[in-house]
Amino acid sequence: MEQKRFAIIGFPLKHSFSPFIHNRAFHDLKLNARYEKIEITPQNFEKDILSLKKSSLAGFNVTIPFKEKILPFVDSLSAEAQKIGAVNTIKAVEGRWHGFNTDWLGFLKPIEQEAEHIKSCLLLGAGGAARGVLFALLQFPAIQTILIANRTKQRANDLKKSFGFNRSTQISTISLKELEALAKPFDLIVNTTSVGMTDHQADPLINPEHFAHSNTIVYDLIYNPLKTILLQQAEVLGLKTINGLPMLIFQAEEAFKIWTGLSYPPQTIQFLLDELPRKIS
Ligand code: ATR
Repeated sequence: MEQKRFAIIGFPLKHSFSPFIHNRAFHDLKLNARYEKIEITPQNFEKDILSLKKSSLAGFNVTIPFKEKILPFVDSLSAEAQKIGAVNTIKAVEGRWHGFNTDWLGFLKPIEQEAEHIKSCLLLGAGGAARGVLFALLQFPAIQTILIANRTKQRANDLKKSFGFNRSTQISTISLKELEALAKPFDLIVNTTSVGMTDHQADPLINPEHFAHSNTIVYDLIYNPLKTILLQQAEVLGLKTINGLPMLIFQAEEAFKIWTGLSYPPQTIQFLLDELPRKIS
């Protein structure tokens, strides 16, 4: 049988771990498939996407900066992707593209056990990643208050507005500047901004000490470095921390399930959890 082709599209893709992750799963499950990088420059996006539509790809992931730009090119959208307003996974069936978002599920997985106790969250950032996180937070059974803190307050307001107020969760917004004057404990603190990445050795946006109680969980979506300064500070305070690595693996697994109907074998997940940190550090 012909080998099935999968890919990731984005720009830049030099540091993407997605081929490593998916190809490992194809290998472990003995599937005749391969996953490659297709780098598309923002200038050529439309032209390249139209030619991709005629290609033999069975599915692909979409990453920065195209998760929203891809929307007009899909033929159907899952309810979640529609609500989040971003697509990171496409399944191609007879030339038609079905769009999904698995980022929010990847975010949820490593915090699933604790989610039922989380009543309050400080969400740092209001960009694309924050949209998926907010969608996931609103599924937490006990969530009552979410404070979105962003450098540009208007963007936080826009994010809040697009999720409406149809439920028992109170969403508020604040600028980072205003946040400096606040000291209030939250059950969960999530950083969705790029502040803290390898090339951003800047101080974290907040001092976790001002926003934590003894059981606060600090979750940073960044996985490179594995431990941002925010997570280091949280550890010093004795708080539970989660980095972006499990999210990276589990959003990939959810995409894989959409394409193949199969989960990653447990040994594949263990291999990735052991091996990816070595590739990063
Ligand atoms: P992503 O899809 O990764 O979320 P994005 O949509 O560009 O990327 O959003 C980036 C987020 O990081 C935004 O919340 C951004 O704040 P602004 O909306 O004010 O731009 C935040 N961000 C990036 N660099 C930042 C910095 N140096 N200080 C504070 N916030 C920053």
